[in-house]
Amino acid sequence: MSDYDDLAARIRALCKGETDEVALMATVACELHHSDDRFDWTGFYRVMAPDLLKIGPYQGGHGCLVIPFSRGVCGTAARTREVQIVPDVEAFPGHIACSSSTRSEIVLPVLGKGGRLIGVLDIDSDRPDAFGPGDATALQAILEEVFGES
Ligand code: SME
Repeated sequence: MSDYDDLAARIRALCKGETDEVALMATVACELHHSDDRFDWTGFYRVMAPDLLKIGPYQGGHGCLVIPFSRGVCGTAARTREVQIVPDVEAFPGHIACSSSTRSEIVLPVLGKGGRLIGVLDIDSDRPDAFGPGDATALQAILEEVFGES
């Protein structure tokens, strides 16, 4: 389980002064992925056209390159701007399986300054029901600090 306070402090130090979104995504994906053995795929999808996500920096096996807002857990998070905690991916209508080993998932919208939707952060786990509200709260705080107004 992540020590989110230590993780946030590490990310804060690594990202200090950086404004390039892709560099920030690469750093956050790396630190998140290696912080917790529940995280088997960790990465970003970026809003690259209206209602269209394209893969960004990630860690883990290959991820699908393009996701419309109408599809998948990522598309749902982008469309609704709400965190998606999926305890069983098989039970999520339209789940996109980039790996057959994925059992649960959390996807969070990533908002930039002014509330602009930059993309989503997707974390997959091979463990069932791996994520809960505490993960959502801690991850949202990290994303807000790195990409948002703060
Ligand atoms: N599972 C995601 C797709 C991205 S791959 O898992 C990296 C979805 O359903 O949107």
